Amino acid sequence: MEHPTNILIVDADQTLAKALEQMLSDQGHHVEKLCTGKAAFESLARKTPELVILDLQLPDTDGWHVFEQVSDLGDACPVVVVTGRELSEQAVTTLLNGPGDYLRKPISAEELAAVVQRTLENIRLRKELACLRSQKGGCYDQPSIVACSREMGQVLEMVDKIASSDAATVFIQGESGTGKELVARAIHYQSARASQPFMAINCAAVPQTLLESELMGHEKGAFTDAKNVKKGLFELADGGTVFLDEIGDMDPAMQAKLLRVLEERTFRRVGGTRDIKVDVRIVSATNRDLHKAMEDKSFRPDLYYRIGVIPVQIPPLRERRDDILPLAEFFIRQFNREFNKKVRGISRMAQKILLEYSWPGNIRELRNVIERSVILECEEQLLVENLPRELVAQSVGDNIGPLNFQLPPEGVDIEDIERELIRQALEMAQGNQTQAAKLLRLGIDAFRYRMKKFGFM
Ligand SMILES: Nc1ncnc2c1ncn2[C@@H]1O[C@H](COP(=O)(O)OP(=O)(O)O)[C@@H](O)[C@H]1O
Ligand SMILES: [Mg+2]
Repeated sequence: MEHPTNILIVDADQTLAKALEQMLSDQGHHVEKLCTGKAAFESLARKTPELVILDLQLPDTDGWHVFEQVSDLGDACPVVVVTGRELSEQAVTTLLNGPGDYLRKPISAEELAAVVQRTLENIRLRKELACLRSQKGGCYDQPSIVACSREMGQVLEMVDKIASSDAATVFIQGESGTGKELVARAIHYQSARASQPFMAINCAAVPQTLLESELMGHEKGAFTDAKNVKKGLFELADGGTVFLDEIGDMDPAMQAKLLRVLEERTFRRVGGTRDIKVDVRIVSATNRDLHKAMEDKSFRPDLYYRIGVIPVQIPPLRERRDDILPLAEFFIRQFNREFNKKVRGISRMAQKILLEYSWPGNIRELRNVIERSVILECEEQLLVENLPRELVAQSVGDNIGPLNFQLPPEGVDIEDIERELIRQALEMAQGNQTQAAKLLRLGIDAFRYRMKKFGFM
């Protein structure tokens, strides 16, 4: 199926829950079935499902507490509530105003499945809409951000709050490739400033001698090359947002000048004598640890306290693995369109490898990997064969090193391992089948049989 959904069923009624679980897993969804409030809280703390089916009568907790916990996640996770008891009008209104649904027991598993189907269809349409919005692209549109993990959900909540406030400065910290610029754009395009310019500059990429005139502009004759008056980003972005990327790389002299701009809310063009006043929000970002930079005196604490009033921390991809597959699928759709390909999914083994890899280059790296794989792919599915070697090697190194392989608690598919061993043996023997067969202590016929079985020939 195209969009398997993560569904959490919390219901003490085992007959109903079991039947429903069966039906939904048969349709290809990932279903987790729990029967107590405690288990539900624990699961929700670990990951955010895409749909919750909740019975309000739980043995240990009032189901409303679970409902409230899920509602805090916002529209991202609809709840279908099932209840045998009479609800207050207010409760019903709350339920029906949300993105989910509300049903009275007694109800058959089939009826419930139909409602779930409708809700899933809604989710799918919403996903598609998000995808279409992102297709429009361009810098005048609000960027679409994939955020299925709890961690990114929290980042997006911050983005909403910041966008609707008019905080003068925002500070985004995160490793390279985690989406800092995307978040900065989202803050701008969701704010009242959206119709005004968003101007970005990478402080590490511009020679420090030019940075001042880039930001503040210059008067004619201010320096040898200044043949004309030039407006800087602060002026050009008036009413909008200036994004100072890699602010940790700004040199100390420029830091002092920026601090003055922030404190006085006015500045002068280089070579100018007139104070210019503008209304800009300054969003800055860095992948550096500014606390360390302050300790070794390469970053001014007074500037840090000025820009860092509202910090947004974007966690690295390896700390929000729930985003990996949704991002991969998002990029597959994007590159399918770009390269006119028809990749429809990711093989199970390839999914495993993507999930286990450490992603030092974060989402930028994932995007590159998917781009390359989509280009190389001739099959309908994205297969391990087209993933870069270092990914596969790391995954294999972590998991099936010959002597330290440990069966994980959730078990493994032995065929996945067999296939991987065949692949490695062939690689090690540089394609020589006789040698590869020897490495696995197999006769050539048995080896070739497995090569066929796993699609290596
Ligand atoms: N949550 C996300 N959803 C979709 N695309 C993302 C997401 N985060 C990052 N990207 C993409 O990954 C790439 C790197 O993001 P970027 O904002 O430039 O990272 P940074 O500024 O932190 O280095 C960009 O192509 C961006 O569009
Ligand atoms: Mg960047």
